[in-house]
Amino acid sequence: MSAAAAPRLIATAPPPEKPYPLYRWLFDRPANEFETIPRPAYELPVWNWKSFFGNNFVVSDPAGVKRVLLDNVANYPKTEMETKMLGAVVGDGLLVSQGDKWKAHRRLMSPSFDFRSIVSYAPAMAGAASDYADSWAAKGSGSIIDIAEDMTLLTLRIISETMFSADGAELGELVDGSLAMLGDALDFGLLDIVPLIGPPRMKKKMDRIHQNFAEMDRTMQALIKAREANPHETPRDLLDRLIAARDGETGVRLSNDEVRDETVIIFLAGHETTALALTYTWYLLSQHPEVEAKLHEELQRVLGGRTPEYADLANLPYTKMVIEESMRLYPPAPGISARAVLEDDEIAGVKVPKGANIMISPWVIHRHRLLWERPDVFDPERFSPERSQGRHRFAYLPFGGGPRVCIGMALAMTEAQLILATMAQRFRLKLVSDQDIVLQHRITMRPRDGIKMILAPRKN
Ligand code: HEM
Repeated sequence: MSAAAAPRLIATAPPPEKPYPLYRWLFDRPANEFETIPRPAYELPVWNWKSFFGNNFVVSDPAGVKRVLLDNVANYPKTEMETKMLGAVVGDGLLVSQGDKWKAHRRLMSPSFDFRSIVSYAPAMAGAASDYADSWAAKGSGSIIDIAEDMTLLTLRIISETMFSADGAELGELVDGSLAMLGDALDFGLLDIVPLIGPPRMKKKMDRIHQNFAEMDRTMQALIKAREANPHETPRDLLDRLIAARDGETGVRLSNDEVRDETVIIFLAGHETTALALTYTWYLLSQHPEVEAKLHEELQRVLGGRTPEYADLANLPYTKMVIEESMRLYPPAPGISARAVLEDDEIAGVKVPKGANIMISPWVIHRHRLLWERPDVFDPERFSPERSQGRHRFAYLPFGGGPRVCIGMALAMTEAQLILATMAQRFRLKLVSDQDIVLQHRITMRPRDGIKMILAPRKN
């Protein structure tokens, strides 16, 4: 390994000793708020922090996380503040809705994410990855790309095709345009909730958001009406399924607004997250040649240059371990939605009072000193079957857990493995050295200015 290739992780500030002071939140909002979470949160099973935002408990003890997300889930709904803010931006789709509406919609959408569906999406996933590798080849060796941008375009293409078939391309473009401004729109700060100053600031932001979504809404409504007018006998894709769905008891169907909200959430939740998992994976591979070599060996041995199929994935365990370890260090969704405490409870021996907020953060849990050996080191082998033995299911949760676990979990893992297996057979990516990679948290954890990498075709 040359000196220039010495492994490096994206520079993240060490956890501070104390919480970030309130005034700094007002005037100097950090790009990655997770770096302001103090050290005790990484060392204690539950860390209590009273602040302007209320009485907060950062829960990292796996049994405690399980209590919140699964065992006593009815006591811990998503907080109203978060669902309101998010709902105002993206509508009342699956990520946001609660209660009976959430339950009914989740049941309705599940067939699009079951095993059979995922197997049926695999050729489109590998095909899109292969086409994308062709476009890299056309650019030529030594070309510089922004891997975050490329992975986002690729996963958007895949989600469009698999979930919305023939209309996917049109919808994808439309949603992409509207989502491009979402980062700005989601830039809520403390000033936005300060009395007097806050409301006009929020209104301005909301007006911008609504304006941006108005055109997308018009086109989507037209598309939904066109599909309604020409229904397919058996649902072809998620959009057909949403339109055709009837409540088992009442026979009531989803309104067009509800169909639109679910469509938006699938685009939103369903491509950038997977793109980020891959972005950080490419980055980490470029910094760890020994891991990259082992990955290449597995791909060569199992695939020998051909495009992978779904059935190959079981024979590519290392490919999966690399992606899992990348999501441990850089979870694309670093903090799942805050949960409210409805009634007094006890979590990991700590009393949590009614009205408190529960924070569960994959970012903190995945770097927690009690849960991981050498948590800051990139080591895919920690996900080998031997070393995973005895690990609590709730010690690793890039996809959340319990009934609100990511509906797209299996789809995303399949997609990420197929893309990596396809493209890593043809390319290595080298990091452009003179760049600062700044992590920015806006629901997802993204590299704020992208990650520039150099295309290096592999000679097989
Ligand atoms: C690597 C990729 C992905 C990651 C890391 C990820 C992460 C997550 C997490 C952590 C949650 C739980 C949020 C919470 O409890 O507050 C979630 C929920 C969700 N995800 Fe994903 N996700 C990924 C890919 C996908 C894909 C591909 C889709 C759809 C095509 C999707 C759709 C959703 C939806 C609809 C929810 C809400 C589920 C519910 O509340 O019932 N996600 N995701």
